[in-house]
Amino acid sequence: MSTPPSPTVAPASGRLGVLTVGLGAVASTLIAGVELTKRGLGKPIGSLTQMGTIRLGKRTEDRSPLINEFVPLAALEDIVWGAWDVYPDDAYVSASRAGVLESGKHIEAISDALREVRPMQAAFERKYARNLDGEHVKPISSKRGMLNAIREDINRFREEKQCDRLVMIWCASTEIFIEPGRAHIDLESFEKAIDADDETVSPCQLYAYAALLEGVPFNNGAPNLAVDAPALRMFATEKDIPISGKDFKTGQTLMKTVLAPMLKARMLGLSGWYSTNILGNRDGEVLDAPENFKTKEESKLGVLEDILQPAKYPDLYGDVFHKVQINYYPPRGDNKEGWDNIDITGWLGYPMQIKVNFLCRDSILAAPLALDLVLFSDLAQRAGLGGIQEWLSFYYKSPQVAPGLYPEHDLFIQLTKLKNTLRWMMGEDQITHLGREYYEEI
Ligand SMILES: NC(=O)c1ccc[n+]([C@@H]2O[C@H](COP(=O)([O-])OP(=O)(O)OC[C@H]3O[C@@H](n4cnc5c(N)ncnc54)[C@H](O)[C@@H]3O)[C@@H](O)[C@H]2O)c1
Repeated sequence: MSTPPSPTVAPASGRLGVLTVGLGAVASTLIAGVELTKRGLGKPIGSLTQMGTIRLGKRTEDRSPLINEFVPLAALEDIVWGAWDVYPDDAYVSASRAGVLESGKHIEAISDALREVRPMQAAFERKYARNLDGEHVKPISSKRGMLNAIREDINRFREEKQCDRLVMIWCASTEIFIEPGRAHIDLESFEKAIDADDETVSPCQLYAYAALLEGVPFNNGAPNLAVDAPALRMFATEKDIPISGKDFKTGQTLMKTVLAPMLKARMLGLSGWYSTNILGNRDGEVLDAPENFKTKEESKLGVLEDILQPAKYPDLYGDVFHKVQINYYPPRGDNKEGWDNIDITGWLGYPMQIKVNFLCRDSILAAPLALDLVLFSDLAQRAGLGGIQEWLSFYYKSPQVAPGLYPEHDLFIQLTKLKNTLRWMMGEDQITHLGREYYEEI
């Protein structure tokens, strides 16, 4: 099949409003990191848009510009922050409370910018995250009322901050597990479900729908149902608005999507993969409720099966025991510790083991992903790419793909897809890694 013609990408002129749903650990670390970077007080490590390069043409051409010099991304200086939260804390209080950043070095230095980010009242119902008890919520009980209030917030923010473009990203707590059902089949059913206060329409879906109604790209950093609901996916495609999700791929799953493709590449077998974590931040507290953990568990469990394709390799992956646990353990705060025990098999079925002990920092890993997602989804919109942005799979544990397609989880296939999409957008050749041309003249 031939490559479709490259789109025309509108320039990134003017202000980009970034609306985060949730102003907790991830969102405050994102905002602080960008403000520190703008002032030369920190480096945006972990962000492909800020630090990554992209090879163009042949390996002999030595053309590898920075990604942000190759594609027209919004400049960090042009970002304006907005947020919603269940708690009234501004980004300064939230960052101090989250305990991710060192106060003297990384909070006080930008306290003025952080204080300016005051959350709007949340569209929230406790039944979707019962371990939260904040009162900074909209005094509205109907779903229709909440939807309209979010739309008003978006438009007020756009006007007050004089934004030329907006993007929204869900950095709020993981909601309880909801499967797409009758309410989500199409827009008509979804609209009816909103009017009927159907409980399968969660606040996250209302934020997502409000964003789409206002022409704003939506990215989902958590595993709960949002723009992957058929009604919202179809609406985004019809209206040409970029959507992406879901669940930031940061710690243990990041490791899994590097190690599992390696096992498969070498045709090594797998009999068991036991993953456990301790985490003590508010996210961990919310996930301590079984209904909320179920959402996360589904997102984490799917990965291995999609990568290993047991139906194709029954001898290697036909009988894998896979277990994932998250234990709420307050003393560690945002510093998650993950353990993996991986039982593998080699030549003639001899067993071997791999142990991974990842002492990571959850929000330090997630913040750069959130930054890239907002910048890339704004780019997608300026390039006229609506609907699912599969090229952003790189950032997610459960990448959203077209119905009927299996997702690509392998981190390096995802990176190749992302970079080839950028090359295509800018009219450069795809890099296939075939490389015959280097040997033709020998
Ligand atoms: N940090 C990571 O590595 C990582 C990885 C994957 C996914 N995530 C997900 O990202 C999300 C944010 O993580 P975090 O560590 O910042 O959590 P957090 O608990 O620190 O922050 C989430 C915030 O969202 C707010 N909130 C909840 N429901 C809301 C609503 N309906 N409207 C507005 N605000 C609402 C909460 O009050 C809280 O302040 C979580 O869902 C988490 O599972 C994080």
